[in-house]
Amino acid sequence: MVYEAIPRTVRIILLGESGVGKTSLILSLVTEEFTDHVPPKAEEITIPADVTPEQVPTNIVDICLTEQTIEQVAEEIEKAHVICIVFSVDKQDTLDKITSYWLPFVREHCPEDYRKPVILVGNKIDLIDYSIIDNIWDIAEEYPEVDRCIECSAKTLTNVSEMFYNAQKAVLHPIHPIYSIEEQE
Ligand code: GTP
Repeated sequence: MVYEAIPRTVRIILLGESGVGKTSLILSLVTEEFTDHVPPKAEEITIPADVTPEQVPTNIVDICLTEQTIEQVAEEIEKAHVICIVFSVDKQDTLDKITSYWLPFVREHCPEDYRKPVILVGNKIDLIDYSIIDNIWDIAEEYPEVDRCIECSAKTLTNVSEMFYNAQKAVLHPIHPIYSIEEQE
């Protein structure tokens, strides 16, 4: 049995290969518009409780492998409550890296008895006219910590707020049984 407290804040981290649109997703959420030129890494942002659907303050953390060491990325995984692994739906290699690299890396940096929820995020659906979600169920079966898969577009703002909302929900209303014995920061 796993005893994990429901936190009073939700810390979301975005992982994934370079160029999949992590920074764009964060900035599209915050500004409600898409800009072609984004910085390599978004500043950590805090969304106040009163504008989140679950009324819980939410921190969103971007990762940029060209600006951070892998040790710093590992530290951020350890601090996060939920991990969004982003891939680009038009680039198969970015999806392949989820099982060959990112999910094992996340497991390595989570406590053995408590796997943090993971959301798989297929970004850039504006570039294709089919759904790739069927290719992802196998991953979810192999890795039960995958809470859900979502397709979105930072460019057209499709499912962007839903993606962050789902990440929040994965922490606050976990699918897998998690028993709260006390609150923690
Ligand atoms: P790193 O900083 O290298 O880790 O990349 P990143 O994952 O933060 O990607 P970034 O947000 O910098 O986006 C990479 C490129 O993809 C940019 O040219 C974006 O404009 C573009 N892009 C991001 N999201 C979308 C999207 O939903 N659709 C399309 N068509 N392009 C996108």
